[in-house]
Amino acid sequence: TRSVRLALLGCGTVGSEVVRLLHEQAADLTARIGAPLELAGIAVRRLGRERGDLPVDPSLFTTDALSLIKRDDVDVVIEVVGGIEPARSWLIESLRAGKSVVTANKALLAEDGGTLHAAAAEGGADLYYEASVAGAIPLLRPLRESLHGDRVTQVTGIVNGTTNFILSSMAATGAGFDEALEEATELGYAEADPTADVEGFDAAAKAAILASLAFHTRVTAADVFREGMTGVTAGDMASAKEMGCTIKLLCIAQRGSGVEGDTVSVRVHPAMIPLSHPLAGVGDAFNAVFVEAEAAGPLMFYGRGAGGRPTASAVLGDIVAAARNKLTGTRAPSESNYASLAVRPIGES
Ligand code: NDP
Ligand code: HSE
Repeated sequence: TRSVRLALLGCGTVGSEVVRLLHEQAADLTARIGAPLELAGIAVRRLGRERGDLPVDPSLFTTDALSLIKRDDVDVVIEVVGGIEPARSWLIESLRAGKSVVTANKALLAEDGGTLHAAAAEGGADLYYEASVAGAIPLLRPLRESLHGDRVTQVTGIVNGTTNFILSSMAATGAGFDEALEEATELGYAEADPTADVEGFDAAAKAAILASLAFHTRVTAADVFREGMTGVTAGDMASAKEMGCTIKLLCIAQRGSGVEGDTVSVRVHPAMIPLSHPLAGVGDAFNAVFVEAEAAGPLMFYGRGAGGRPTASAVLGDIVAAARNKLTGTRAPSESNYASLAVRPIGES
């Protein structure tokens, strides 16, 4: 049997755990897919970086990502680098060449997902991104596939692990913001630039991705009202506690209706919620997302929303799907036909 050849772009917090899981589960993955997975190369920024005991041939590392993805023997490109460029150009190049792409890059998907989906349609390629929202939690596939026969009306939740870690620490121990952020960074939860977490950009990107899938439309990060959590003080948290509440950074995406048809509104901001609310008990870097659909009613998704290994679990799930589809010539559901619904503005962002 021929192997399915993978190009891994990025080998940091998430990428290194992808390498470990590929190694640890090689036999099971081969059995599940019906062919072995093989790393064709790993693109990084610094060849000399200390990478510990990573179970991989050091000669696979390269700083030339473009040459790696252009290789004829590469079937699937996995992008865990982050940021808009050069990731966008690499993924467009890969998809147009008919290679499946697996990415965890929510910033890119929320800024320019439409271009990626168009490139996928052009190349007859598949784009998978389960890891981009809520880490390990299987959430996008249910929205993308299982709920496709229903009508989703609202998605509400905690989708940023770093800020949930900070707010939970502030609420539980009175820990300071800086101290809690440092710990979240050490644990591999925070973005390369943690401003994206604490100012709500990361949650807004995820909210845009969720709203796009839930409402079959194209919502971008710019459509999302955003307020970060840097303004939440220890005093605010203490006052919330006195009132039997806590403070969480929430993402809320709603379908509405206007004179010209359906509308969508999406927002991210800190909110005071009663301690009896199910989201109040979501601690550490866990995420929780409620989905409400007309026929299904309320659904709740909960799990580890950040961290290298939980995120790598979602990446691996996508790699298996991509590899199976490559071998059988099957295609993942396409989103290239999403139209834009009117986005209802909620104040200034
Ligand atoms: P890291 O900063 O830990 O890793 C980034 C990797 O990309 C590093 O290996 C780095 O190389 C490599 N890299 C950076 N720039 C380039 C470049 N120009 N060319 C080649 N390689 C490059 O990030 P994370 O692993 O934390 O995150 C990766 C992606 O996953 C991001 O999109 C992030 O938003 C997303 N994500 C992260 C989660 C988490 O919990 N950390 C959870 C869900 C999604 P080098 O090793 O040489 O520095
Ligand atoms: N920085 C992100 C978070 C990583 O804290 O949620 C997971 O997407």
